[in-house]
Amino acid sequence: MSRHEVIVELGERSYPVIVGRGVSGEVGRFFPASARRAVIVTQEGLPAIDLGGFPHTTLRIGRGEEHKTLTTIEDLCRGFATFGLTRNDVVVAVGGGMVTDVAGFAASAWHRGTAVVHVATSLLAMVDAAIGGKTGVNIPEGKNLVGAFWQPDAVLCDLDHLASLPATETRCGLGEIAKYHFISGHEMLDMELDERVATCARIKAGIVSADEREGGARALLNYGHTLAHAIETVGRHSVAHGEAVAMGLVFAARLAHRLGRIDANRVQRHREVVGQVYGLAEKPSEPLDVDALMATMARDKKATSGLTFVLDSSRGLEVVPGIEPDIVSSVLVEYLAS
Ligand SMILES: NC(=O)c1ccc[n+]([C@@H]2O[C@H](COP(=O)([O-])OP(=O)(O)OC[C@H]3O[C@@H](n4cnc5c(N)ncnc54)[C@H](O)[C@@H]3O)[C@@H](O)[C@H]2O)c1
Repeated sequence: MSRHEVIVELGERSYPVIVGRGVSGEVGRFFPASARRAVIVTQEGLPAIDLGGFPHTTLRIGRGEEHKTLTTIEDLCRGFATFGLTRNDVVVAVGGGMVTDVAGFAASAWHRGTAVVHVATSLLAMVDAAIGGKTGVNIPEGKNLVGAFWQPDAVLCDLDHLASLPATETRCGLGEIAKYHFISGHEMLDMELDERVATCARIKAGIVSADEREGGARALLNYGHTLAHAIETVGRHSVAHGEAVAMGLVFAARLAHRLGRIDANRVQRHREVVGQVYGLAEKPSEPLDVDALMATMARDKKATSGLTFVLDSSRGLEVVPGIEPDIVSSVLVEYLAS
């Protein structure tokens, strides 16, 4: 396996994403020159990182979305204050997407902006969540509703950390990787894991560079997500996010086919990538109520006019608003029965 370096190009705020085995050992290289101390934000049971003799403390947050809250941000900031973290210092997030979202948000708010370096430990964080500077927490009214754009100084994806990742979490990452097969048209089938992670990081970095604040191209990262969110909600989270995304990709391909945007071979390609390449399910194993799925998709935050999907075409992926609900439900019935 090799070491890969991808740059997220954002002018003066550009930063590297480093992918490879053992790369978390490089973390100190990315601390700002002004930093005299660091706070590591992590969770119980995650891989430890070595800061050498650099003065630091470690703060642990709870596991699971229910801890992705403003209360956790307050707890972290109080921990920063107790330790004496200044604006010149650095926060180091060591964990999956939840940790990088939460620690990134705390860093964005601490003294109105303190440097953060992400050490992504889950596959999903490596290919998606840790890259791009979207940070935030949930409130009872919805996920990720409170947050900030706050770019890290570096993202380190240490592939050695994946050894301890639970199988469900690996499948979640694979669902998001499957998505990248279709976002840029990159052929990733013959790649080793390191190359695949680096390729996904490169695609995400390119999208973030082009559209940092999600005015356009960044929305394509939601490919597969419209049905995925509905499957997660209606199925009461019995299907994990990345697995639902994989299902959403297959459904989106079928919908694109029905709308005359892609041919049957392209639908088959989606099925092969999801099912054969990544060994993920194409549809939920439990029956889900079509009306409930339709109602949830209509509430999706991207649905500004009718039903909105990211759909494939001969020109690549596009955001397609205002899709006739009858067509969506008819494809959905067919897909669930297939
Ligand atoms: N900011 C973004 O652009 C963006 C994009 C996608 C997702 N997200 C967010 O990311 C979060 C999901 O990220 P996730 O899938 O990484 O979930 P997660 O961070 O909750 O991690 C899943 C579980 O795996 C554990 N874990 C992580 N790395 C491990 C390792 N190496 N060994 C053992 N256990 C490990 C965690 O402790 C946790 O229990 C969500 O909160 C989502 O909103 C953010």
